[in-house]
Amino acid sequence: MFQTRITEMFGIRYPIICGGMFWIGRAELVAAVANAGGVGFIVGSTFGENLDALRAEIRKARDLTDGPIGLNINLFPSARPQPIEEWVRIAVEEKIPVVETSGRAPGAIVEALHEGGVKIMHKVPGVRYARTAERLGCDAVAIVGYECGGHPGLEMVTSLVLVPLCADAVDIPVVAGGGFADGRGLAAALALGADAVLMGTRFMATQECYGHPAWKEYMVKATEADTAYVMRSVGNPIRVAKNDLTDKVQEMEARGTTIEELLPVIGGAPNIAFEKGQVENTLVSVGQSMGLIQDVPTVQELFDRIIEQATEARERLDHMLPTKAAKS
Ligand SMILES: Cc1cc2nc3c(=O)[nH]c(=O)nc-3n(C[C@H](O)[C@H](O)[C@H](O)COP(=O)(O)O)c2cc1C
Repeated sequence: MFQTRITEMFGIRYPIICGGMFWIGRAELVAAVANAGGVGFIVGSTFGENLDALRAEIRKARDLTDGPIGLNINLFPSARPQPIEEWVRIAVEEKIPVVETSGRAPGAIVEALHEGGVKIMHKVPGVRYARTAERLGCDAVAIVGYECGGHPGLEMVTSLVLVPLCADAVDIPVVAGGGFADGRGLAAALALGADAVLMGTRFMATQECYGHPAWKEYMVKATEADTAYVMRSVGNPIRVAKNDLTDKVQEMEARGTTIEELLPVIGGAPNIAFEKGQVENTLVSVGQSMGLIQDVPTVQELFDRIIEQATEARERLDHMLPTKAAKS
């Protein structure tokens, strides 16, 4: 059921992908996703220059599953230099089947990954970047809309528009991300021309995801209107949980601020939501699909539910379409 070019390419049972999530996308979550029939990504930048810790995390995940373990290589501009080449070497040496790249065009690392037998899914927030990914030789492209947690595009275009445009624009398989959280979303993504769906926010509210219970409880209670889109004016937009700090950042941006002015304001404790369950005074990435989250299931329960809902969605459409017999 739901066999696509992505299930075939990544060797997974279902076209469901858990996007890499800085700090929280760890062995337990990635292994649980693999066991349930999808693929997820341990994030290189979580471990920074501590390459032994990254390798240990990959091996820990391997001990928990026979399924595929992905690695996210974040190419976003960073204040500190990132050991990109070392992450590539680790991906190859650890026989990672698929790397998710994001942030910048991955041209400089495509050849080394391919020579090592690693597939590349590049994640983009716009159609023109998807074309670039294809031209650079990426094996698949994930496109994320304005709704997404993490980094939406500067152009603020929703997934509903980006996914079919992207499917028309490239020949490589397309993965739809941003705003998807259930089986209706999976069915919709496939109907829009995607070969799989990618979720981040929904997977944060699972048992296996790293994070304080109070943060997960916040996600259950919060609505689709409780996120804020900030930092666009300085060219690095992110969607985060709305709070007094995001109000302040938006005021500063409306006045015409600079990155130098913003950094001391936003640079506080980025991970206090995950560590302490505190959602004030922090910029914590989360997408609008938070409004669709009503509980904190295990990853397996979530997969079962998504597949059941997607099947129901398909049957619902089937009932709406006249059969050949009825037409004649
Ligand atoms: C807390 C959090 C951290 C994230 N960190 C990263 C990251 O380090 N690298 C990356 O490529 N994407 C990152 N993302 C984006 C996700 O991989 C994914 O693209 C996004 O969550 C999909 O949209 P959704 O949140 O609407 O499901 C992050 C998202 C969240 C919510």
